Amino acid sequence: MDSGVVRARGSSSAMTGLHDRVIAPARTLRAMFTRFWPLTRPDRPTLLGAGLLLIVAAAADTVAVLMFMDIIDGVVSSGKLSGYWEPAGIWASVAVAGAVATACGSYLLARAGERFLLRLRDTTFAHLQRLPPHFFAQHPPGDLVARLSGDIEEIETLVSAGVVQGVTAAVSVVFFGGAVFWLRWDLALVVIALLPALLLLTRRVAKGFRVTAQDERLSNGAISDVVEQGVSNVALAQAYATEQVEAERLHEQGRAWMRARLAQMRLTAVYTPTTDLLESLCVLTVLGVGVWEITQGRLTIGGLVAFSTFLGFLYTPIHSLSSLFLTMSAARASSDRVSEVLDAVPAVTDLPRAWVEPARHGRLVLAHVGFSYPAARRPSLTDVTLSTRPGQLVLLTGPSGAGKSTVAGLLMRFYDPTGGRVLLDGVDLRDYSLSALRHSITLLPQQAAIVDGTVAENIAYGSPGASKRQIGDAARAAQAESFIQSLPRGYDTRLGSHGTALSGGQRQRIAIARALLRDTPVIVLDEPTAGLDGPAAAALVPALRALIRGRTTILITHDLTLAPSADAVLVLDNGRLVEHGTHHQLIERGGLYRHLQGRLDPAASLIA
Ligand SMILES: Nc1ncnc2c1ncn2[C@@H]1O[C@H](COP(=O)(O)OP(=O)(O)O)[C@@H](O)[C@H]1O
Ligand SMILES: [Mg+2]
Repeated sequence: MDSGVVRARGSSSAMTGLHDRVIAPARTLRAMFTRFWPLTRPDRPTLLGAGLLLIVAAAADTVAVLMFMDIIDGVVSSGKLSGYWEPAGIWASVAVAGAVATACGSYLLARAGERFLLRLRDTTFAHLQRLPPHFFAQHPPGDLVARLSGDIEEIETLVSAGVVQGVTAAVSVVFFGGAVFWLRWDLALVVIALLPALLLLTRRVAKGFRVTAQDERLSNGAISDVVEQGVSNVALAQAYATEQVEAERLHEQGRAWMRARLAQMRLTAVYTPTTDLLESLCVLTVLGVGVWEITQGRLTIGGLVAFSTFLGFLYTPIHSLSSLFLTMSAARASSDRVSEVLDAVPAVTDLPRAWVEPARHGRLVLAHVGFSYPAARRPSLTDVTLSTRPGQLVLLTGPSGAGKSTVAGLLMRFYDPTGGRVLLDGVDLRDYSLSALRHSITLLPQQAAIVDGTVAENIAYGSPGASKRQIGDAARAAQAESFIQSLPRGYDTRLGSHGTALSGGQRQRIAIARALLRDTPVIVLDEPTAGLDGPAAAALVPALRALIRGRTTILITHDLTLAPSADAVLVLDNGRLVEHGTHHQLIERGGLYRHLQGRLDPAASLIA
């Protein structure tokens, strides 16, 4: 049952595709601990302290019950008050000690748990940020949000709270169990007889819990995802009057979630009363045997009262151990989902002795570069060779799907080429540290990203410590200053999901200012004017020229306005470089380039 791949069930699979995904095989509990336990390291002293305090609390309870027995046998039976004070005094002192220990222990426990949660989320997010684009293509954002919130909390409950709860319960079982045996070992055996039944029941329920928890976590991720998509595409839904479809999608996932929750509730609903029933039977048996023993003069009343009290105390930790087992079974689903993120391998990493100095000149060389995306059937690039001198403008064009953005991705080292090499200033990109590389090359993607923050913060994104003046200079060079000044609060206007919306051209200008401020020797522009209409694209050209000036530039575009000033024009088709020359040479040759120019770019011919 544990081995193999578990395929999630769900009637709504076609809706989101989420339920179609195969979840990683459920790991064993031990593997789960090995995975997450190291993260508790900085809090181990705290955990140890909490554990010790909770042991003190258990010991205090034990002493209290023994004092109770003393009072009943020594005072109540004999009727003399003088014997009361000593046990009462001890009882009161241990009760105080126990209360203090419980309070401190629980707080320390909570603290260690919260700190673990913080660390686990930080670690997972940091890892997530290093993952390659195809990981994000396979995992919708809403689902990842759910993994980083709800699933991490599940693991927290288990690893920190669960472990100490488990240790404390185990210690209590030893204390109270020891006391029970010490009082009457034969009566204690009656209690032991109950354990196998409890164990069997717990195992069965735990199995059910694991399966339902998997469904529950999966639906939870799917719900986040539907909401996330619904919110980001709300304009589309309204424009196409598909709100009802979206609502049904959510309802469908909500129902799946409800079914899983109810299945869990059913298990709990049966489990708790059944264990209570087993306990009652056990207590009745003990009482019966005890009363008989008293009539035979082999047990005092105080002894029986103490014995039953210990039994009552013993059930609490046994309960908590078995419920811990259930929590663990449920947390396994979350553990799998977080582990899937942590196990995903970044496509690129720093070599041990990586070059930490950013490149200075910007001489780019692609030598026989080939590339296939992970799990892709066909290569996306085959034997691409090109070289630039510092400061040159190279224009890369070609039909959609030709592999242009793939070239940009390799230059940014989102992936390493599967064949050939990419060199910057004579050094293989793999020999730079990622940080040095990304301080050498700036990418301007097609969709200019705007982060939550002010205009100034957006421009300075990636250039921490830039001064107001530098930001202003960059904005001016990007021809963004006039529109920024017309915003309600100028450079302090908030942009992003909670701020002012900008037009496509304005976003692109902010992005150009941001790139200008970074001032790297190499710039990669991936279709900077796509999505803009002819006049808006034409208006962006001066800003682009400012950005390009003095930097090695790879300009990927269908818009050939800048083609005449390019040092070289390259045409990609089907992953291969098919044409290479200056704009005029290629026009004269009348090949694919000429064809593309006529067909793809009415705007460019309009301006030209
Ligand atoms: N993440 C990916 N996984 C698999 N294949 C991809 C991925 N991204 C792009 N491709 C494929 O690689 C080829 C080149 O894509 P791309 O570089 O985006 O083309 P262009 O930018 O020229 O339009 C296409 O066939 C595309 O389907
Ligand atoms: Mg592209």
